[in-house]
Amino acid sequence: MRYELTKELETGNTMIDQEHKELFEAVNRLLDACSKGQGRSSMEEAIRFLAAYVDKHFAHEEQLQQKSGYSGMAAHKAFHAKYKKTLMEIVAQIPLADPSLADLGSLNKHVAVLVNHIRTEDKKLSAFLKNV
Ligand SMILES: [Fe+2]
Repeated sequence: MRYELTKELETGNTMIDQEHKELFEAVNRLLDACSKGQGRSSMEEAIRFLAAYVDKHFAHEEQLQQKSGYSGMAAHKAFHAKYKKTLMEIVAQIPLADPSLADLGSLNKHVAVLVNHIRTEDKKLSAFLKNV
């Protein structure tokens, strides 16, 4: 399966939407590298990129919240920290040699959590940013 930023997931904030798109593409590249047996180095590369991109994107959102005085910042930031930690635990468990579909199950579940976060919390944030 491939993830894409559908209309329903757009928040209306250009930067956030663009970064969510890139984030989904990074997840897709990792899933591709796993499922097509592209080998260790391309999986490591995909994991490294995804981890770095998640960091960068969450930091951007937090900067926007900081600058605008967003009241939901503490909870949003806590979600980001926990999400990153779990993501790193999940990718660390994916065997680089010969990953199976089952190995990707927890990654897919965790991406679903992010999709839900985008649909609710990031939309709320973007709506707030529109009015500051
Ligand atoms: Fe967020």
